[in-house]
Amino acid sequence: MKIKKVMVIGAGQMGSGIAQVHAMAGIDVVLHDVSEEAVERGFKTILRNLSRQVEKERITTVDKAIIVNRIERSVDLQKAKDVDMVIEAAVENIEVKSSLFAKLDTIAPASAVLATNTSSLPITEIAAATTRPEQVIGMHFMNPVPVMKLVEIIRGLATSDEVYETVEALARKLSKTPVEVNDFPGFVTNRILMPMINEAIFTVYEGVATPEAVDEVMKLGMNHPMGPLTLADFIGLDTCLYIMETLHKGFGDDKYRPCPLLRKYVKAGWLGKKTGRGFYQY
Ligand code: CAA
Ligand code: NAD
Repeated sequence: MKIKKVMVIGAGQMGSGIAQVHAMAGIDVVLHDVSEEAVERGFKTILRNLSRQVEKERITTVDKAIIVNRIERSVDLQKAKDVDMVIEAAVENIEVKSSLFAKLDTIAPASAVLATNTSSLPITEIAAATTRPEQVIGMHFMNPVPVMKLVEIIRGLATSDEVYETVEALARKLSKTPVEVNDFPGFVTNRILMPMINEAIFTVYEGVATPEAVDEVMKLGMNHPMGPLTLADFIGLDTCLYIMETLHKGFGDDKYRPCPLLRKYVKAGWLGKKTGRGFYQY
C-alpha cells in the first residue's frame, strides 16, 4: 500500500512531531485537533523546528516552504475522507481513542490504515471499536519525534501482514528504525521506562532525595541523557499517570501502583513542561 497522505489526530507534542517528520519525508499531512488554538500551537512548533534546521543549513528556506506547504490544518474530522492513513496522537485515554476510531471508521476510505501512537493502551481493544480491525495498528513514536530513531510497531490480534509491512516501510521512509513488539500493556518501552520513572517519584515522595538529586544520580551514575523526573516533566505527568494506570490495571500487580505524588501533581494541573510546572518550573 502506498502512503501519500496522512492525517494526524492531536497536534500536541507528539502529533506535531509526527506531522513534521511525514512532511519532511514528502508526505502530505492533515494536522487535526479539537480547537484551532491547539492546531496553531502544534503548527508553530513545526515552524520553529524547521527554522532551526534552516539556521543549521540542513535545509534551505525553499525546502522549508515546500515542507510547510504539505501541511494542512484541520478541526474537521471529515478531512479523513481522502487520506491513505490516520495516525492518532490524542490524549492517552481508551474512551477518547475508541470513540475517535469508531468515527474514523465511518469517515476514512475503506482501504485506509488506522494507526495509534498510544504509549500503553491495547491495540486490540482500540481496533475493536472499528469494523476493520485488520487495518488497525500501533505506531509508537518516541519524544521528541524529529530526533528519536525508534518506532515501536504493535499488531493487534487481527492486524494484517500487509498493514504491518506498510507501516514498517513507512517508518523506514521517515528514517526511523522500526521494532515489532506484541500487544501487552505498555508494550516494551513503557513496561520498562515508566516503572523506573514511577520509582523515581516514590524516592522523592518518601524523602529519599530531592528531584535534583535523583536526576543527578541517574544522569551521572547511569549516563542517562535526562534524569527520570526531568524526563517525566518532558513526557507529561498526565501521560505518565495514564500509562501507570494501564500497567496497574492490565497486570493487576501492585508493583505498578502509581505514586500518590504523581496523582497529586496531575490533580493540581502540574503536568510538567507543557503547563510550566511539574517536578521543576519552566
Ligand atoms: N523537538 C525537536 N528537536 C529537538 C527537541 C524537540 N523537542 N529537543 C531537542 N531537539 C534537538 C535539538 O535541536 C538538537 O538538534 P541539533 O543537534 O540538530 O541542533 C538535538 O535535538 C539535541 O538537543 P540539545 O543539544 O538541545 O540537547 P540534548 O543533547 O540534551 O538532547 C534530547 C535533547 C534528544 C531530548 C535528549 O535529552 C534525550 O535523548 N532525552 C531523552 C529522550 C527520551 O528518553 N525520549 C523518550 C521518552 S519516552 C517516549 O517517548 C515514549 C512514551 O510513550 C512516553
Ligand atoms: P499532548 O497533551 O501534548 O497533546 C494531546 C493533544 O490531543 C492535545 O492537543 C489535545 O487537544 C488533543 N486531543 C485530545 N482529544 C482529542 C480528540 N478527541 N480529537 C483530536 N485531538 C484531541 O499529548 P502528547 O504528549 O502529544 O501525547 C499524545 C499521545 O501520544 C498519547 O496517546 C501519549 O500516550 C502518546 N505518546 C506520548 C509520548 C510523550 O512522551 N509525551 C511519547 C509517545 C507516545
